Amino acid sequence: MSRTQAAEPRLFQPFDVRGVQLKNRLVLAPMQMYVGRDGHLTDWHIQHLAKFAVGGFGTVFTEGLCVEERGRNTYGDLGVWSDDFIPALKHLAGTLRSLGSTPAAQLLHTGPKACRQRPWEGYGMLEPEQFAKGELPWTPIAPSANLKNPGWLPPELIDETDIPAIIDAFAAAATRCDKAGFDILEIHGAHGYLIHSFYSPLGNDMGGAYGGDRAGRMRLALEIAEACRRAWPDHKPLFYRLSCVDGAENGGWTLDDTVVLAAELRRRGVDLIDCSSGGIGRFSTAQVNTRAPLFQVPYAERVRHDNPGLPTMAVGLITDPHDAENILARGQADLVMLAREALYNPHWPLQAAITLGGQDFYNRVWPPQYGWWLYRRAQSQQPRLQISPR
Ligand SMILES: Cc1cc2nc3c(=O)[nH]c(=O)nc-3n(C[C@H](O)[C@H](O)[C@H](O)COP(=O)(O)O)c2cc1C
Repeated sequence: MSRTQAAEPRLFQPFDVRGVQLKNRLVLAPMQMYVGRDGHLTDWHIQHLAKFAVGGFGTVFTEGLCVEERGRNTYGDLGVWSDDFIPALKHLAGTLRSLGSTPAAQLLHTGPKACRQRPWEGYGMLEPEQFAKGELPWTPIAPSANLKNPGWLPPELIDETDIPAIIDAFAAAATRCDKAGFDILEIHGAHGYLIHSFYSPLGNDMGGAYGGDRAGRMRLALEIAEACRRAWPDHKPLFYRLSCVDGAENGGWTLDDTVVLAAELRRRGVDLIDCSSGGIGRFSTAQVNTRAPLFQVPYAERVRHDNPGLPTMAVGLITDPHDAENILARGQADLVMLAREALYNPHWPLQAAITLGGQDFYNRVWPPQYGWWLYRRAQSQQPRLQISPR
């Protein structure tokens, strides 16, 4: 990547989507923490997400909120399957807004990947250690009984007559997120979870109206988009996260398929495609695609290019402010999302502003409680004083 330095960094220009204006182009990615209590968030989640609002992310996403109890990854997942969750989510959304960020919620149903240990417990099937804590197994659901996830519980084949209830669960969750005060809703349709397992040919062998050819396999993704769009207010944007490629050794879903699905989602009122990849089976990202800096940016670029007017978001190993700026400058995506780099450095956007735009940005984007001091510190640090020898 060439190192261009914009006078007014694009990353810090606002972005309008439906009736909402995001103050900049930087988005904190949904990241499950696996420390919820019976689906409820705790002080951990509040301080964890508040940090990224203070750190300058224009938009801050919750982790995936599970729309059904059986759609959880782990016993530590957060839930939105009942109205009981609304008050704490409202507190969270209000906190993020008061700190200057747009609060955004992601809806999740893990489908075949449900019922696992937390990552640091091994990410495998629940074991006696978890049973002793009262964490008993349940049966994951999938559009195939043949999904092979070594070390995980085999899923039960979904009965077509159960699908309307799943779609209703997404719509009810959308309504709850609106009541809680979130401004953006994203549907998690990636990473081998329920929706992705339907549209991928590697995840779905159920036949019938929701299986078979590409149109049949995409049907659940589209019906969930329609139901959420109906439940979610007209002035609020709806995002959709896709695994743009399966990238599996045995083929699967391709970028050409994603371009078609994105166009159909847009027709149903989806405002932006969040371009991720992989996850079918036990792998968290595509197997045959090298995981290297910016590796998923070409997906966001292609979806955006082939669907003129449909914004996209780039995510995945974006860590350098110049790279992030160039993604926008080259028209590869409209928004840039960070996950692990933000865990490493929650002030990444504030620091990127200085790197790209200079020290004035201490006064323009940093909270004055910090920026006032740091601007003066920076001024006195340069030029270095030449101290003459005595
Ligand atoms: C701790 C952690 C939890 C995650 N949880 C979610 C999640 O809830 N929903 C989701 O769509 N992606 C989730 N992801 C994936 C991230 O959103 C992101 O796509 C991925 O980490 C790649 O971005 P990065 O290279 O900046 O980390 C998670 C990633 C991490 C590191």
